[in-house]
Amino acid sequence: MTIRSIEKLDQVKIHFKKAVFQHRLLHWYQSNKRSLPWREDWLKQKNPYHIWLSEIMLQQTVIKAVIPVYHRFLETLPSLKDLADANEQQVRELVRGLGYYRRFSFLHKAAKQLTEVKPLEWPKTAKEWQKLPGVGPYTAAAVASIAFNDPAAVLDGNVERVLCRLLDIHLPPNLPQLKKPLQLIVDELIDERHPGDFNQGIMELGQRVCTPTQPQCSSCPVSNCCAAFANNTQANAPQPKIKTKKIDVTMNLLIVKDSDHTLLFQRPISAKFLKESWGFVTATSNTQQFSGDGFTLTDSLLSKAEKIGAFKHNITNHKISASVWLLGRKHIMESKLAPHKAKKVRDQYVEKSLIANLDRKAWHIYSRNAHRLGI
Ligand code: ADE
Repeated sequence: MTIRSIEKLDQVKIHFKKAVFQHRLLHWYQSNKRSLPWREDWLKQKNPYHIWLSEIMLQQTVIKAVIPVYHRFLETLPSLKDLADANEQQVRELVRGLGYYRRFSFLHKAAKQLTEVKPLEWPKTAKEWQKLPGVGPYTAAAVASIAFNDPAAVLDGNVERVLCRLLDIHLPPNLPQLKKPLQLIVDELIDERHPGDFNQGIMELGQRVCTPTQPQCSSCPVSNCCAAFANNTQANAPQPKIKTKKIDVTMNLLIVKDSDHTLLFQRPISAKFLKESWGFVTATSNTQQFSGDGFTLTDSLLSKAEKIGAFKHNITNHKISASVWLLGRKHIMESKLAPHKAKKVRDQYVEKSLIANLDRKAWHIYSRNAHRLGI
């Protein structure tokens, strides 16, 4: 039955043989799965740290971006104990460029928490994993199923799309009312003997075969279970995602120079963006009144600065128009700019110290123009 309205959602049910679906999906996954570093590491070492780290990195981030960072991270922090003993800035430097940095502060905090108990006792079920900082239902189900065989089903964006097609649901996959019925369906579908492979198989099917546009139905292992395939309605199931409106933000980033050094400031926990990250003085506004993130960026201070460029940048649902300013350190001394933490970094190390792409874009503007700038 095709589902076209929210009211009909309580009629959603599995119309195919569960065992056939599981068998075909698992067989496809076994023969087609990508070789990914965390999968190889798991086969060799069976260390839940690798699976947990990979799942945290994969939140909101594409596999291609995660692979080099996963390697870099483990070269420096090969064990849970190494992570627990590392300092916050080191952890952030290792994940630079990935975005959503708070997830790594939570990972770090959780590693400290876990290693406090001796001998180390890993959480085993998804319910236990969810008690750790930064671990939500999706990550908990992925880690517990892959590393501990807990039959907890993952529902991510790819799985939502696969289920909408299997059940011919013509609704946006991110409709809030759809979450619960889809979770119930996938909870029922999961193969309890191979939950890790089932979860990874259905996610990978969504990534590579049951794609948002032009799904590869002719090579799909479960097309014979698929109502949208039978009805030839793949283009309508699901409907396009509900788009959340982007919020426009104007931002000033101030690069403070002291000959061949640059001042980096740690954003306060109350900052609107990139809480606790080290970067440039940041002031955001939707009006002309720039209330700084813990700083007072006055007009008189900006009048002493030189505007060296501008760029656009997105953070979550914010569309940022950033202007980059350059200022000599002596002006800072005279100003009311009162960052709660600052450090002076030699220019050649600035790039490595900057974690967020926002700051890196500003730094690249400076670097490209450094030869002609007087400071
Ligand atoms: N996306 C997030 N985690 C994944 C995994 N373990 N396998 C495939 N895709 C994923």
